Amino acid sequence: MKKCLLSLCAAAAFMAGMAQSYQPSPEIKASQQQFAADRFGIFIHWGIYSLFAQGEWYLNSGIKQDEYAKAARAFYPADFDAAEWVSAIKDSGARYITFTSRHHDGFSMWDTEQSDYNIVDATPFKRDVLKELSDECQRQGIHLHLYYSHIDWGRDDYPLGRTGRHTGKDSLRADYPHYYDFMNRQLTELLTNYGPVRAIWFDGWWDQNNRETRDFDWQLPGQYDLIHSLQPSCMVANNHHQEPIEGEDIQIFERDLPGQNTAGLSGQGIGSLPLETCNTMNGMWGYKIIDQDYKSSKELIHYLVKAAGMGANLLLNIGPQPNGQLPATSLDRLKEIGAWMRANGETIYGTSAGDFPAREWGTTTRLGNRLFVHVLSDGATEIDLPLARKARKAFAYADKTPVKFTANKEGGIRMTLPSRPANTIDYIVELETD
Ligand code: GLC
Repeated sequence: MKKCLLSLCAAAAFMAGMAQSYQPSPEIKASQQQFAADRFGIFIHWGIYSLFAQGEWYLNSGIKQDEYAKAARAFYPADFDAAEWVSAIKDSGARYITFTSRHHDGFSMWDTEQSDYNIVDATPFKRDVLKELSDECQRQGIHLHLYYSHIDWGRDDYPLGRTGRHTGKDSLRADYPHYYDFMNRQLTELLTNYGPVRAIWFDGWWDQNNRETRDFDWQLPGQYDLIHSLQPSCMVANNHHQEPIEGEDIQIFERDLPGQNTAGLSGQGIGSLPLETCNTMNGMWGYKIIDQDYKSSKELIHYLVKAAGMGANLLLNIGPQPNGQLPATSLDRLKEIGAWMRANGETIYGTSAGDFPAREWGTTTRLGNRLFVHVLSDGATEIDLPLARKARKAFAYADKTPVKFTANKEGGIRMTLPSRPANTIDYIVELETD
């Protein structure tokens, strides 16, 4: 009897715990589905840091906040044209834009009432670039996500973390409740005045996980609830380099495909939320004049295809110039990716992860009973596909020429690939399966 009561109590406690656990609303589920079908988005890192042309972490290099902030008076991006940005991005096949509303330097790229340190009040430009961008996104039908930094290297109320320790902040005036309130007021503006925002993309959680602040409580659940209540279809994402926590709707990876960790930022396991990995076109997020080391279009397309093969989106970054234009090389890359996506987007958008993990020769994506075999390496001539479903027909996606295959010993198939021009970006075979 006692035992029975105990297990009843345990069951009740378990259920009470479950009752608290986050359940995405139908609106969030719809956003997640739409997001996962998009597969490709463009990240924009733009702020007064772009003026220094040394990346978005420049304030962290021993500069005092008071000196740095003077740059605002010189920020006049005369060539900024939201319509041009959005059309170039749309033409690349990207289906959403993630824009840095406020980065770690604490400068707000919209007309916020919560601080004068913003694009309208602090610069001679005086234009609300976020408003122009969000209007244009709606006009051209592309989704908007907003990056929002939890860190602020300039404000005294943000408690000193691992980074931005030499900007001249008065650490005695740290006041997290005050800062938390400030952030929530800003988030309320972002989710009230800029039309539909499909996701808030947080960054900086890791700033407080040093020895002294390991138990720091960011109070994320309250913030996440606020977001979901202001815009029920707005998803929450957090680039905390950890497994997702309660209330998050997307899982993010940085500079690596899910499950890989070459950059040391993505050791976390893969959960069940829609996945996104962000990466740079060159080496830096914010504009860095010296960094012309761009990945080729072929490399970028391969990255996108490999992400899709794992069921993940690619969020590919551009760091606009201080004059407001997207760098010419980024524009070239967008064009080339766009041409490829126009011809092959059907094998990427709306697909789910392939039937088996990527191989040396490439990867697969699936759409119903169509398996797209993306052969990314020039050298591959015969490939083995471990298939659980019966293969019926195989043909080149581009021109429908039949591709030969036979059953292999492992119960899958061995496919013989035709010779193809050197440097083919992606030789796609469509396989019809059960
Ligand atoms: C890192 C960097 C940040 C950048 C972000 C993009 O967290 O701190 O500068 O915005 O990655 O993924």
